[in-house]
Amino acid sequence: LAVAAIGCAGERPSQPEGWDSAVALRPARDLDARPGVLEVDLTARVEDVEIVAGKRTPTWTYNGGLPGPLLRARVGDRVIVHLRNELPAPTTVHWHGVRLPAEMDGAPGHSQPETPSGGGFTYDFVVPDAGLYWYHPHVDSAVQAGNGLYGPLLVEDPDEPAALGDELVLVLSDITVREDGSLEDPEAGGNLGTLFGREGDILLVNGRVNPVIGARAGLRQRWRIVNAAKSRYYQLLITDHRFTRIGGDGGLLEHPVEEDRILLTPGERADVLVTPRGAPGATLSVRWVPYDRGYGATFGRPEVEAFRLRLADEPLAEGDPLPAIARGIEALDTAAARRVDLQLTREEGPGDLVMGINGVPSWEAEPLVAAVGETAVWTVENTMEFDHPFHLHGFFFQVLGADGQPVRPLAWKDTVNVPVDGAARFAVRYDNRPGMWMFHCHILDHADAGMMGMLQVV
Ligand code: C2O
Ligand code: CU
Repeated sequence: LAVAAIGCAGERPSQPEGWDSAVALRPARDLDARPGVLEVDLTARVEDVEIVAGKRTPTWTYNGGLPGPLLRARVGDRVIVHLRNELPAPTTVHWHGVRLPAEMDGAPGHSQPETPSGGGFTYDFVVPDAGLYWYHPHVDSAVQAGNGLYGPLLVEDPDEPAALGDELVLVLSDITVREDGSLEDPEAGGNLGTLFGREGDILLVNGRVNPVIGARAGLRQRWRIVNAAKSRYYQLLITDHRFTRIGGDGGLLEHPVEEDRILLTPGERADVLVTPRGAPGATLSVRWVPYDRGYGATFGRPEVEAFRLRLADEPLAEGDPLPAIARGIEALDTAAARRVDLQLTREEGPGDLVMGINGVPSWEAEPLVAAVGETAVWTVENTMEFDHPFHLHGFFFQVLGADGQPVRPLAWKDTVNVPVDGAARFAVRYDNRPGMWMFHCHILDHADAGMMGMLQVV
């Protein structure tokens, strides 16, 4: 079972059973025996979870665990999810990054009504693209995702090169647990908390605090990572090790790139290879290092160990050479693209902090209108003193440099960082998905404070 939760449905004999049981995700139970259909029950409910040893924390969970179950499908599969809402509040499920029909997107008031407490909703869609995706609520999302509602959806492509390495799905997040075991007040810090975006005090890797993961020295690992934290940027490093980034939000990159650290904004995914090296029995520390997202984000903040790799007692093994990993991605033709110019703004006024896009909060904004099939170039400008991770629902985009040329290696993305005093640019083609699509900052406190808008594709 542990292998099914982390490996390739037990098809990789090189991966010993239970090797990563320290962080094994619970797989969702498939209610439909037919190949090509993944049908699961997903119940959102409050459950006592032992996040910090010896404390019981009433956590908002899917199916009682933190994070929610791992949904594992293959490209082209039909995914059916029966949501039951047993929370004390209305909710929806948004399938972050999945190119699905708008009615299945979980955007309350636009693609579906909120599912009330005691109610249910069935999501039913096809997963067209390989990659790691994730799901989370889109109602009061800073509170609901911050209280624990998030989970991974892995879409595998049987045509990808096998034997890339022992595979780990890592759902990164953070949370604050008080002395009495309760969760932090979501309003903690008032407007300042909202302005910065609230981060939890402790790091969570698949719902655990600083887990130890077994590893085989000299053998490559493939980490499929999602940053599900509501505000925290994750920057990971291992001393004397490098990472090969092979993929991101929407599957593999055009070609791999070497990196010293892996940076993920909230909402982003990374697909990286790393070969742990060291003496048998040694422990490698995988550390979160502060990333300067502005506003003193790194000031006085120490590095924190996110998790540890414990190298097996066997001597260093020799792994297979890395197979060629290339993906044919074509740069979008932007010659006739329509321009979309947005500014991320902070609104002045009394009372609760309000943020917006082009000077208006989400509740006052008119949707942008676009036509199916059209290509557009978006420029998202930052007018504030810290970064914002910008996310568009429903479509992948290609990030462009300041010169308007696509950034290499080409990649399909759904979330991109908008740096302090800078802008993010990207090209997007509104492929065949009419409907209302959200875009917003993925610092969820910012989204809830109004930094959100709608794109109507007709
Ligand atoms: Cu991760 Cu609007 O969502
Ligand atoms: Cu923001």
